[in-house]
Parts: sequence; structure tokens; C-alpha cells
Amino acid sequence: MVQAESLVHGSPEKVCVSGGGVVILPCSFPPKDVFPTVEWSKTDLKKGFVLLFRDNREDLVEQSPLYVSRTNLSVEDLKSGNASLRISNVQPADAGMYHCMRMWNNDQQNITKVELVVAVPGPKISVMPLKEGGFTLECEATCWGSDAKINFLDENGKNLTADYPKKGYPRGCFTVQRRVTLQEASNRVTCRVQRADTNETRETKIQLPDFPY
Ligand SMILES: *[C@@H]1O[C@H](CO)[C@@H](O)[C@H](O)[C@H]1NC(C)=O
Ligand SMILES: *[C@@H]1O[C@H](CO)[C@@H](O)[C@H](O)[C@H]1NC(C)=O
Repeated sequence: MVQAESLVHGSPEKVCVSGGGVVILPCSFPPKDVFPTVEWSKTDLKKGFVLLFRDNREDLVEQSPLYVSRTNLSVEDLKSGNASLRISNVQPADAGMYHCMRMWNNDQQNITKVELVVAVPGPKISVMPLKEGGFTLECEATCWGSDAKINFLDENGKNLTADYPKKGYPRGCFTVQRRVTLQEASNRVTCRVQRADTNETRETKIQLPDFPY
């Protein structure tokens, strides 16, 4: 048996996208008169492919459930040597290193590496004055995943008691919202959001008028 030769070309191309958006991961090759097998994989994916194209069609059985209904590879483009992968509803967890491997008759492998960077906005605070005095603050973490934690801190870094968080999936990204009602003197409030999987943390601060409101 002949050992397959792997050719990795240069350093990975970096592609950036905002969470919830659509991205195209580039992968080109000199076309031949037959379709290659194309394996789009992600280095930290434990099981399945991001996309597998073989025997002239997409093999959905081998696709990771994380990418079902979110990927697209154009067979028309493949004819001209373009195996670029389109991913929609990009999630923060999609960030990482992707490999596009082309293979003809199992004997020639070419790999293109693409790094996907997913930009996630910091938490957004909105302020709603209450009729009876005081404020309700709402903090929203868009695209931070459904397990993101939101906490409010007062100017001394003490946790403020807040409502139960609300979770949603607007614009194709998991979003968490949380509210806190302020009736006492606390004129600088911080909203801190933390991702459950990586512990990545971001904060947004807001300055309120001096007490009494
Ligand atoms: C490959 O196809 C993608 C998606 O159809 C397109 O955006 C991209 O420009 C193409 N790349 C080349 C090198 O033709
Ligand atoms: C996140 O923080 C928790 C609690 O401090 C810790 O147990 C866990 O290992 C951290 N995870 C990562 C990915 O750093």
C-alpha cells in the first residue's frame, strides 16, 4: 500500500465573522476531470465532519450534528476547483481551525487550513427609569451561548440581586438577557458576562445619575 502524502500549504488563512452571520471558508485547487472527495474537518471536533463530499455528493451521515443545515458547498464551483465552504448562523463555538482536504482515488491529499475567528459583541446595557423612582437595567449578551452567565456588580464589586435570566435565539445566535432593579444608591453598575465553556469574560459599565434618582 502506498502511503498517502499530505501536503499542507503555507500558514492558515484567517477569516473573521460576527456571531450569527454567514462566512465562506476558502479552499481552491487545480481542477481535474473528476470530483475529488472533499473533507472539511475541524481540529477540535470529536466526531464527524463539518462537511463531507464523496461519490459526487454530500455525505450527510458523516456530518457532525453541530453543522447540520448550516453548511453549503457548491457542486457547480467544485467543478472549477472551488471547494469553499459556506457556514451560516455562525456560533462562537464555530471558532477554530478548519482543514479542507481534497483527495483523488485515496492517493493524493491536499490540505488547506483556514482559521475562523468569531467576533462576539460585549454585553449591552439598557436603562429603563421606573415611575416610582429607581431604574431597571437590562443587560443583553448576544451570541455568548445559551449557558452564558450575566451578573451585575455595584461600584464596590458586590453582586446585585437580579432577575432570573431569559434565554432566546434571535438572529441565529444564543442570547441571554437579565434584568436588575435598582432602588438604592448605586450609580455605577457593571454588567459582567461569562461564557460557560471557556470562561471568557467581558464587562460593560454604566453611570447612573446621583442618588436620590
Ligand atoms: C469560491 O466560491 C465561493 C462561494 O460560492 C465564492 O465566494 C468565492 O469567491 C469562490 N472563490 C474562487 C477563488 O473562485
Ligand atoms: C472555568 O472556571 C471554572 C470555575 O472557576 C473552572 O472549574 C473551569 O476549569 C474553568 N474552565 C476553563 C475552560 O478555564
